[in-house]
Amino acid sequence: MLSLDAAFRKFKSRLELNEREQNNASARQKEVREYLDTKFSIENSFLTGSYARHTKTKPLKDIDIFFVLQDSERHYRGKAPSVVIGDFNEALVEKYGKDAVRQQSRSVNVDFGVVVDAEDNTDYRILSVDVVPAFTGGDNYEIPDTDAGKWIKTNPKIHAEKAVTAHQAFSSEWKGLVRMVKYWNNNKRHGTDKPIKPSFLIEVMALECLYGGWQGRFDYELQALFSTLADRIFDIWNDPAGLGPPISDAMDLARKQRARDLLMAASREASEAINLARQGRNGDALKAWRQLFGPKFPLS
Ligand SMILES: Nc1ncnc2c1ncn2[C@@H]1O[C@H](COP(=O)(O)OP(=O)(O)OP(=O)(O)O)[C@@H](O)[C@H]1O
Ligand SMILES: [Mg+2]
Repeated sequence: MLSLDAAFRKFKSRLELNEREQNNASARQKEVREYLDTKFSIENSFLTGSYARHTKTKPLKDIDIFFVLQDSERHYRGKAPSVVIGDFNEALVEKYGKDAVRQQSRSVNVDFGVVVDAEDNTDYRILSVDVVPAFTGGDNYEIPDTDAGKWIKTNPKIHAEKAVTAHQAFSSEWKGLVRMVKYWNNNKRHGTDKPIKPSFLIEVMALECLYGGWQGRFDYELQALFSTLADRIFDIWNDPAGLGPPISDAMDLARKQRARDLLMAASREASEAINLARQGRNGDALKAWRQLFGPKFPLS
């Protein structure tokens, strides 16, 4: 019988980025870059966001790629964010078709039509990318935000450094725990609306909510983390780099209340799973954790 610790280790490794997935992401980056090069003057492009920090969960979707534009494209910077987003959208629709391309507030999403099976596997392929037009701005980047109607500053390097520091301070278990809670957030049982939006907020909160050092047990850490996230979901969570708008701005009060309720339910379910294991009911405990997280949590 699979022990609880072995189950969590297996779960953790299933949420890790592997080489085949990285190869697929790079191939997609190259493909999109080569196409966009025919439409815009691009200085460079790179995979970023949670994907690059190893805090993205599975299945791999909405992988952020920054397309840093050359000076000859600076005219966009003086225009409303919707102009550059609109032009990128139009260009991408031309190649991928309108059903595969979706305009978002800060990016254009391209869906590659990959099928996800019942176990959340994708045959090592990524589902979609978020194409983000960007300009350099001093040490930072500036990206369009059509919801805010302005250009916002961001610095992926600072976010990456904060994640590394937190990971090291938590015996290299921090990123794995973040991926697990993001996986919970994607659980289909919540319906189409994720409890926490954006899921980057989970990572930002975890910078402060995972403290005291790794105590050696996934079950206790996760139960406590769900509980702390519930307690602090009403706080204002600023950009850890101190540049962009607060990360917590995307949820209104009703949505935060729902998030709090679902986080508290997760914390309770985690306590119940811990109790089952304490009573020696290991199989039932594994089932309870799988119910909480979803199909990538192993039963054997
Ligand atoms: N409000 C903000 N201000 C500044 N930078 C931000 C802000 N929100 C997001 N970012 C940066 O943009 C990146 C991409 O944002 P996104 O919402 O896709 O989050 P993510 O970390 O990639 O998480 P996910 O796993 O949901 O894709 C973030 O990783 C972060 O570096
Ligand atoms: Mg992202």
